Amino acid sequence: MMHQAILLCILGITSATIVQDCGSVGTIVSSDIEDCELPPCLVTRPNNYDVNITFTPGNEVTELRTEIDAYIGGLHFPWPGPGGCDLIVEGSCPLHTNELYKYHAAMPVLAEYPALSAVVTWMVIDQDDRHQVCIAFPITIV
Ligand SMILES: *[C@@H]1O[C@H](CO)[C@@H](O)[C@H](O)[C@H]1NC(C)=O
Repeated sequence: MMHQAILLCILGITSATIVQDCGSVGTIVSSDIEDCELPPCLVTRPNNYDVNITFTPGNEVTELRTEIDAYIGGLHFPWPGPGGCDLIVEGSCPLHTNELYKYHAAMPVLAEYPALSAVVTWMVIDQDDRHQVCIAFPITIV
């Protein structure tokens, strides 16, 4: 477990994406968005980008869901989100407060999306609507 934590830290530092924490109750150890170290993330269509987050939950977690918000030109648009507990690739639900977990999701960028800039807020929410993870990052669809 100790070695795994150290390894995750090293991996996180070498490939981490700089994101804004928008009120996570959990502790984010690293966040990695594929092909993006310094946002805005330039994304092409159609494509899927890994969104990997290593975190420790702020409380016991039995259920998780993902919600995504895209803020475009002053308006909020909900974006189809992937699952929750099924996206925990290291460990599994229930999640415990003193342990490190890796969440791995894909951000879908569909062919029909227009070329524009947006701020993406990526939320991983527990059974009591607490935002275990909330990260925000700008993207530009090219
Ligand atoms: C995200 O995690 C998956 C599964 O562990 C891995 O295969 C992939 O390379 C990771 N991507 C990034 C950008 O870290």
